[in-house]
Amino acid sequence: MKLLALIPLLATAAFASTDSSASPPSASAANPASSGPAAASAPPTEDPTPVGALWTASWNSTTLAPYTQSCASRSTYKGTIYKLAQLYPDLETFAPQLKVFYNKQLYPGSWDGIDKHGNDRELIKMDMTDLPWKVREWIKKESTQRHYSVHDDIVFFAPGAIYPILPLWVEGGDEVECSDVFDGLDAYSNEPADGKTIGKVSHKESGEGEVEFTVEALQVKLQAGGERSEL
Ligand SMILES: *[C@@H]1O[C@H](CO)[C@@H](O)[C@H](O)[C@H]1NC(C)=O
Repeated sequence: MKLLALIPLLATAAFASTDSSASPPSASAANPASSGPAAASAPPTEDPTPVGALWTASWNSTTLAPYTQSCASRSTYKGTIYKLAQLYPDLETFAPQLKVFYNKQLYPGSWDGIDKHGNDRELIKMDMTDLPWKVREWIKKESTQRHYSVHDDIVFFAPGAIYPILPLWVEGGDEVECSDVFDGLDAYSNEPADGKTIGKVSHKESGEGEVEFTVEALQVKLQAGGERSEL
């Protein structure tokens, strides 16, 4: 059972998340592999955003209400999605490199940041050329990043790995003032605040292992006089 060798590498119990549903203790307890040495590994310090803070969005229409929205834009991508259970034989040629890449690495979560652990953990596979230019540049520049595993012209990543660099997945809007608004990560936040960029990922699975996901981003500003309107 070669597959068992990978599970400890990807099944760390140390996965940090603000989402309490992400890491139920029962799931880790049911998976003895997660008590291995990898479980104690610390998150890498070079992450562009704090681990656990941005694996999913924490805003909704209620928390968005005090803000004006601008530059809303969305981009849609297609990829193939695999569960770890499919590693052999489906991804046999990629497996050795994937194991090294994810060794002692926190799994960033599947959709909505939820980590199903073990064999249900998911990876998206895409052609490098189908990634937006900004994401490819980020991968090139961040040579020590551990979210996108590049194999020549193929890339693998967990759905949750979109969140730490979400604005880079979204094209700027058509308006001049929106054209470069999602070029960097400085203004990115997982909850609304004045002048921040926020975003969300949605997806639908279509057919055999095909997935279509949409990444949306927008800028929010506190409404002028918003606080006084209560008086
Ligand atoms: C929106 O998010 C807030 C803060 O997380 C939460 O208290 C509230 O219940 C959410 N509202 C809806 C409609 O989901």
